[in-house]
Amino acid sequence: MSNTATLNLDGKIYEFDTGIGTENEKYIDMAHLRSKTGYITLDPGFGNTGSCFSSITYVEGAKGILQHRGYPIEELAEKATFVEVAYLVIYGKLPSENELMNFSAGLKEHAPLHTNLEHHFSGFPKSAPPMAILSAMLNLVACFHPEVLEVTSDGEDFDKTATLLLSKVRTIAAFAYRMAAGKPINHPNPNRGYCGNFLHMMFSDPYQEFQVSPIVEKALNLFLILHADHEQNCSTSTVRVVGSSRANLFSSVAAGVCALWGPLHGGANAAVIAMLQDIKSSGRKPEYYIEKAKDKNDPFKLMGFGHRVYKNFDPRALILKKQVHKLLDELHINDELLDISRELEEATLKDDFFISRNLYPNVDFYSGILLRAIGIPLNMYTVMFAIGRMPGWIANWKELLDHKQRISRPRQIYTGENKRRYTSLIER
Ligand code: SDX
Repeated sequence: MSNTATLNLDGKIYEFDTGIGTENEKYIDMAHLRSKTGYITLDPGFGNTGSCFSSITYVEGAKGILQHRGYPIEELAEKATFVEVAYLVIYGKLPSENELMNFSAGLKEHAPLHTNLEHHFSGFPKSAPPMAILSAMLNLVACFHPEVLEVTSDGEDFDKTATLLLSKVRTIAAFAYRMAAGKPINHPNPNRGYCGNFLHMMFSDPYQEFQVSPIVEKALNLFLILHADHEQNCSTSTVRVVGSSRANLFSSVAAGVCALWGPLHGGANAAVIAMLQDIKSSGRKPEYYIEKAKDKNDPFKLMGFGHRVYKNFDPRALILKKQVHKLLDELHINDELLDISRELEEATLKDDFFISRNLYPNVDFYSGILLRAIGIPLNMYTVMFAIGRMPGWIANWKELLDHKQRISRPRQIYTGENKRRYTSLIER
């Protein structure tokens, strides 16, 4: 590989440094393109643009590889807990027994919300989308913990803030669900683990503490691990853009929640179930919807299919597909939507439109069926994605500050009116 790239522009030759990452990803350093040539690059959607150096997650789309700090997702999914993976993603190594004990103790300590915070939930209308509540409450939590507004990316303050956020995102989610459902809130139970405590807060009742089945707790643990981080996806890039102005961690991840909400991103998991339910109630064959997805004049897309980076298979979808089968068998659930999803997947695997565009099931295609099986309501699916993605957002915000990265400020190509004179009302 050459150390420089040469650009022949307007009769002049320009040289730019090149480089290579630890997984052999090559780049051309364009940081001085404009000052050298007067040109900028144009890459809408940033499909060919690296925004940073990062050592958190590596994805190789062509081979369906996903690694967190070098550990393959398949191993983490099989052997780790979500709390271990969260520690790994944030701090760069698997925790020792002592580190895990302290980290877990922090998660227990920070699970409760300030009493005055609880009143804010009753201010939302019952129809309020949980993602709106989550984003709002994340900023509100910072008002009750003003110390987090000044946190840098290292030291004890960061550790406390990261743990507080990772723990409270669960409590906020569960409280949002309970209030919207008109049910009394359940306070965190310090005797339960990360996933078990969430399920308790979601589903216990005043007269009956929710009995968390190990199968369901394991399924939730897997779901959260598979969502922990994913390079510079839309919401993580949003966290980085907001954090690059040195906004605090809570406001940065609150912005990430808003980006994740979109149906092309984290909102897809709920959209997949809505699509499968439409297919089921329409009585039409999946082929009808596949043709709709192929029709250029029809905005309909097959939710849960396609990915900007995976041009082969999304390893998380493969893991989920296997686990969903097992989970439904163990819970003796016969979910017709799973049959429809398999028919859709099989049909697209034979359809040139999908094959030629490398459109395969992504993480969202099967995750909704898992959430249905463990009883999570549909309007909470994207919130579950946000809980899983929290370690990735925290890690990227920390890395951005550790690297002292400049404020994000992309350029544009102006295509509007050229200079013109103000005209008075009479002249218009
Ligand atoms: C996530 O980035 C990440 O890492 C995201 C994520 C993470 O962990 O953070 O992995 C999580 O967001 C997964 C994606 C969930 N979204 C969906 O399932 C929504 C449906 N998928 C599409 O909207 C789309 O595939 C995207 C948004 C995922 C990717 O969009 P791209 O990379 O901009 O691709 P594109 O829109 O340019 O599509 C290329 C072609 C187009 O056709 P042509 O113009 O070439 O004829 O493929 C078509 C698209 O119309 N296409 C689809 C399709 N996805 C792309 N056609 C039908 N159904 C689809 N789902």
